[in-house]
Amino acid sequence: MNVTELNHPLILHKLAILRNKNTGTKEFREVVSELSMIVCYEALREAKLDKIEIETPICKTKAYQLNEENYVFIPILRAGTGMLDGLIKVIPNAKIGHIGLYRNEETLKPVKYYYKTPRDLARREVIVLDPMLATGGSGIDAITMLKENGAQKLKFLCILAAPEGIQKMQEIHPDVPIYCAAIDECLNENGYIVPGLGDAGDRIFGTK
Ligand code: PRP
Ligand code: URA
Repeated sequence: MNVTELNHPLILHKLAILRNKNTGTKEFREVVSELSMIVCYEALREAKLDKIEIETPICKTKAYQLNEENYVFIPILRAGTGMLDGLIKVIPNAKIGHIGLYRNEETLKPVKYYYKTPRDLARREVIVLDPMLATGGSGIDAITMLKENGAQKLKFLCILAAPEGIQKMQEIHPDVPIYCAAIDECLNENGYIVPGLGDAGDRIFGTK
């Protein structure tokens, strides 16, 4: 399976903060942002670099540079924007697109309400952001839309993934690697990740 679960004591420590129902909005946002940066570092482990020559205070040397403008971040609204803060610190010149989807609470099917991305997706690395991969419906639909608009090189970054969502995503988009901080146990009868962290959007924006 094309899935990378970050396994690190500090990540487990940070996840405990996110999972705790008593964590407040400010700290929740900060930790989502921090974990997103770490997931992004892992997702870019194999990134192509240009070799350049620079001068240190001591001597000339070869160095390596990422073409930041090759990257497009696509947060899935709303909760995906919580990951964007951290990622634009890591790659400040990345382009940004937005896809608006919400899950119908009864059917759990995603409903589209917004789509705006840079035009030239075909020549860029497209990195889709959503803290939660639950049934997989939202991530799958977002990636389908991006492919229909030319995207060829895609990655999906999340904080928590459910095995059910991973499996469905891999069936439909086997070419898209998934990077997550943790793979949780399962989904409950309401489509929430167990043990999870609750509703990511509500916790990031303080809407409940
Ligand atoms: C949440 C989450 C994902 C989706 C995951 O968004 O941020 O987009 O659910 O569930 P799925 O894998 O079953 O599709 P939600 O629909 O609650 O919208 P929000 O981000 O506006 O809160
Ligand atoms: N969306 C969330 O925000 N949380 C879940 O557990 C599942 C979907």
